[in-house]
Amino acid sequence: MIILAIESSCDDTGAALIEDGKSILSNILSSQDEVHRRYGGVVPELASRRHLENIVPVIRGALDEAQRSLDDVEGVAVTRGPGLVGSLLVGIMTAKAIAHAKDLPLVGVNHLMGHLLAIFAEQEVAFPLIGMVASGGHTSLYLVEGFTAFRPLGRTRDDAAGEAFDKVAKYLGLGYPGGMAIEHLARSGDPEAISFPRAYIAKDSLDFSFSGIKTAVVNYVRANPPSDNGMADIAASFQEAVVDVLVDKIIWAAQRNKVDRVVVSGGVASNNRLRERLTQEGKGPGVQAYFPSPFLCRDNAAMIGVAGYHLLKEGRKDEMDMSALSRWPLGEDESGMKKGPDSCPR
Ligand code: KG4
Ligand code: ZN
Repeated sequence: MIILAIESSCDDTGAALIEDGKSILSNILSSQDEVHRRYGGVVPELASRRHLENIVPVIRGALDEAQRSLDDVEGVAVTRGPGLVGSLLVGIMTAKAIAHAKDLPLVGVNHLMGHLLAIFAEQEVAFPLIGMVASGGHTSLYLVEGFTAFRPLGRTRDDAAGEAFDKVAKYLGLGYPGGMAIEHLARSGDPEAISFPRAYIAKDSLDFSFSGIKTAVVNYVRANPPSDNGMADIAASFQEAVVDVLVDKIIWAAQRNKVDRVVVSGGVASNNRLRERLTQEGKGPGVQAYFPSPFLCRDNAAMIGVAGYHLLKEGRKDEMDMSALSRWPLGEDESGMKKGPDSCPR
């Protein structure tokens, strides 16, 4: 079954063709980073306008790269939420138009489910597994018992991990988005130079909090204006503090649920320090860590196609009155009406 997948929840416009929920025939992404960079974060109005300009060329690009036409497509999957409502609507309206014109089944996909299943476009991982989404909008842990079975274990109470990277990078003058810039600078710094706080919240909590560490960096820089290698030490020490908490809580979640496989996705999962640490430390308690390749970690449409395939296979089709859900906690309330964490705050 070939699915056309569309992703436009935040600031990247994506379209992909996916076969049988695992083979990527094409995965096209048009990034808006250069539009939002000068504002230091995503401007929702500009994002939706850019999606409108990009969506048709991106879908054409996905069809061309896969050397297929719309006549080969057997289903349409689109991100329904969570995300910026104006951005989501561009993808949803386009998906509806194609599904209607070609008489194809349509399914709305939870963006977080897409991140959690991205790995399956590259390799098989047996269930149950612990899944983490660490991105600019989310830091959430799940027990994943099947392709459509997610039990939430913890999530951030304030800033997402990627948001903390972005805010600290902005404060240090490293540009936007900041995760990659911090990782790059951290390579020449000492991760033990400064002891930034690790917020574990409570001993048994699998929730996260990253706003304190951001404030600690600001306070540190005010008190100790950096010189020479100071910036690199700050970047390395900040990164280490975030990675420490992520690694510890992922391993706790695995141990507590007696699961030895963990899958980490979302933009922050491309961080090499996180990958190294989890791969090394996971070995002790017998945790095997899996990461999608960096392009599949970030927002992309292929992951929406993987998720959409499994939903359609289960008969979870949506109708033409499907709306966007700016908040949609995965695994808590399928109606999506429950209050969840803010989406796409950067
Ligand atoms: O998944 P993603 O592309 O979009 C969202 O759904 O948010 O994630 C983007 C986030 C940004 O906050 C970015 O700074 C962060 O992922 N990020 C990283 C790295 N690469 C991207 N954070 C830490 N280290 C990286 N190498
Ligand atoms: Zn995302």
